[in-house]
Amino acid sequence: MFIKCTEQEAYIFDQVARAARELGVDAYIIGGFVRDKIIDRESKDVDIVCLGDGIELANKVAGYFKPVPKVSFFKNFGTAHIKVDDMDIEFVGARKESYRSHSRKPEVEPGTLEDDQNRRDFTINALAVSLNKSNFGELIDPFEGYRAIEEKIIRTPLDPDRTFSDDPLRMMRAIRFASQLQFTIDEVTWKGIKKNKERIKIVSQERITDELNKILLSAKPSAGLDFLFQSGILAIIFPEMVALAGAEYIDGMGHKDNFYHTLQVVDNIAVYTDDLWLRWAALLHDIGKPPTKRFEEGHGWTFHGHEVVGGRMVPKIFSKLKLPLDNKMRFVRKLVELHLRPISLTKENITDSAIRRLLFDAGDDIDTLMLLCKADITSKNKQKVKRYLDNFEMVKYRLEEVETSDKIRNWQPPVSGEMIMEVFGIPPCRHVGDIKNAIKDAILDGEIENSYESAYAYMLRVAATLNLHPVK
Ligand code: CTP
Repeated sequence: MFIKCTEQEAYIFDQVARAARELGVDAYIIGGFVRDKIIDRESKDVDIVCLGDGIELANKVAGYFKPVPKVSFFKNFGTAHIKVDDMDIEFVGARKESYRSHSRKPEVEPGTLEDDQNRRDFTINALAVSLNKSNFGELIDPFEGYRAIEEKIIRTPLDPDRTFSDDPLRMMRAIRFASQLQFTIDEVTWKGIKKNKERIKIVSQERITDELNKILLSAKPSAGLDFLFQSGILAIIFPEMVALAGAEYIDGMGHKDNFYHTLQVVDNIAVYTDDLWLRWAALLHDIGKPPTKRFEEGHGWTFHGHEVVGGRMVPKIFSKLKLPLDNKMRFVRKLVELHLRPISLTKENITDSAIRRLLFDAGDDIDTLMLLCKADITSKNKQKVKRYLDNFEMVKYRLEEVETSDKIRNWQPPVSGEMIMEVFGIPPCRHVGDIKNAIKDAILDGEIENSYESAYAYMLRVAATLNLHPVK
């Protein structure tokens, strides 16, 4: 075999070869699995293409295993799937495709292996390995895909205009593969992406977001994000990000380019975490800067309140991108809203009260928030970076100190809203929230002790100023 297989894979391929021989059809391993094997990247998805009926081949192969795996198939597409151990194996008849301009759905007819390789997106994805007797294990590589892997280059097998206009999602796939594999994009292919960018509009939002997530999850997401920006695709699919780009100058005073700053922050966080939502928080942390940008005479550029405005933008962006609107979104929003808090603490005298408030507001997300803050330190000035990092370490130390003594992280004020309503015989109303907040503030500010008795006594005092008295 040209590709190096595990014992389990070799066994499976032998069974596919045997079934194909018995049915009298040619069969090949094709696409992503071959690519990943050459790169030495783990893959559990195998595509088998045959010059015949893919469903029939799948049924025959399934019959060789005990217990017989379930064959799921789509008659309309002529594809079938079986799962053997942890391997997903997909069977399809070789085909020729032609596309109409308004849709990603191709007209399909049976074709040769060459037709099938022609219709594929990139040369690195068009590699096939024969499972036939005459040339078992041989690599069939009509477009020099192997060389493209060695040269780390993404290139379309045919004229990129055709490949991308056939299926515009491939423009995002090109950028995603470049980002995941740390490849470059061939010049002609790149021109094709720029030329066809508008066609991304016919692709469903789910597919676009899926690729965006894969880019964000790559080792160095800035590569893919910058390709999206430079190609003009980002302006179409995510204009709020593009609004961050560029640095404006007035009276010789400028601000940093917030787009490239953001990309740096995303790369920084990617070193520490594979968590998609924390990476989203890094991507969106400054998203409120463009709408809050002002130039203040004699002072320079300001972005007052950008964390609040940015926080408000999160649900809108998630909704538009069809990302989940559940606790993942709320987590991202919370981090965007709080991202300045730890750093702002370093500018003043850090009081215990400020530390307690931060612990209370961040709760269990405090460590994640601190990670984001650290990733946010991107100045080119080494001394500045050192100063920020020193301050940052100090805040971290104080957080640990205060948490150890006060246990604020998962703390709930000792008097609840229900209790307030019961004691004063009042229905849910503004007073309940006001009293509750007053108690919380008094404890966090260290004015009263963190105990039920002190909180109760304080509640009576605050309520009296509102002319409320206990009913019993
Ligand atoms: N393919 C294509 N055009 C697309 C999607 C897929 O030509 N828009 C082809 C490629 O040859 C690809 C194969 O179908 O290798 C399998 O597609 P898929 O499973 O989506 O991609 P992989 O290349 O396996 O990579 P990944 O699983 O990371 O998406």
